[in-house]
Amino acid sequence: MPTKTKKTTAKKTRAKRAPKSGFPRTIKGNGVEAKIHVGDCREILAELPEVKKSQLDLVFADPPFNWARDYDRHRAGDAWDDSRMSPDEYCDRHDADRPLGESKSFTFEWIDLCIRGLKDTGSMWVNIPDDWAAEIVVHMKARGLHMVNWCVWHYRFGQNTTGRFINSKVHALYFCKDPESRTWNPDPVLETSDRRAIYGDPRTESKRDGMPAGLRVPMDVWYGPYWGRIQGNNKERRTKHDNQLPEVYLHRVIASTSREGDLVLDPFLGSGTTGVVAHAMGRRFIGTEFAESNAKTACERIEAGPIRDIAGTRGESTAIHPKRR
Ligand SMILES: C[S@@+](CC[C@H](N)C(=O)[O-])C[C@H]1O[C@@H](n2cnc3c(N)ncnc32)[C@H](O)[C@@H]1O
Repeated sequence: MPTKTKKTTAKKTRAKRAPKSGFPRTIKGNGVEAKIHVGDCREILAELPEVKKSQLDLVFADPPFNWARDYDRHRAGDAWDDSRMSPDEYCDRHDADRPLGESKSFTFEWIDLCIRGLKDTGSMWVNIPDDWAAEIVVHMKARGLHMVNWCVWHYRFGQNTTGRFINSKVHALYFCKDPESRTWNPDPVLETSDRRAIYGDPRTESKRDGMPAGLRVPMDVWYGPYWGRIQGNNKERRTKHDNQLPEVYLHRVIASTSREGDLVLDPFLGSGTTGVVAHAMGRRFIGTEFAESNAKTACERIEAGPIRDIAGTRGESTAIHPKRR
């Protein structure tokens, strides 16, 4: 984590980049369009008609974590510089006291734009590590959003440490504008309940909660087959990216909190996982990405479609105990 404090304004945190070629690019298929923009999402979102008219049904954001990380710069030369911001420039908690749209720090500037673009029935997810999760939750609540779930993506390939506990999670923060009218569509993501998988409990075969027999809505800690970090010889892995999310993660988010034909935005597209899954599932999609090289990869992935049988991987048990009955 960078600790030095620089006296620059949020405006100065915008990076200059080389002119982009062939973007914005539109990909058609599955009866929908995916439109990919290259540049700083704060500048692009501020101009997008879909944001100005609050037409977004779902936002999923996996921002840079300000970990002084080199987003493929040594390979591509056009990466976002993730080391320039002081903690306050990245995420200033005083922004919560400023009106919507007048946040001064990087994180709350893009979050405010996404909130502005969200429909009243819309949902917004933020994938973020321990460092910033609390600040983001406070800001989103101050902006009037309702927190539906604080989910945790658990993986077992964290960096080894000996002087503290090993990190093995990222937070998946799930907010909506209106809890009464939010889009909620759990059927495609139901999984086998522990009562069926472990206990052989007959009560799960005649449920009264409206769920099909033996199934339940997943718990708020996410793990299981295909849920690991995309590393090594993982079939999903794009070699030029070390920050790719698993397809099943995006399937769970998109399937449960949007519907076919809905408009999904990812302001930090990276290697394109959100676009790949949204497009394959018949959602309209807008992605913004700073690095042109990443945006190109994302377009190729969206055109090629998912690696996993995303719809077919649902329904499995995530039980951590052996079957008892
Ligand atoms: C954590 S990665 C996203 C990974 C993505 N979820 C995936 O599955 O591949 C963050 C991405 O945001 C991009 N980025 C950083 N700052 C940006 C900005 N201001 N506007 C748009 N994209 C940005 C980086 O280039 C990087 O590709």
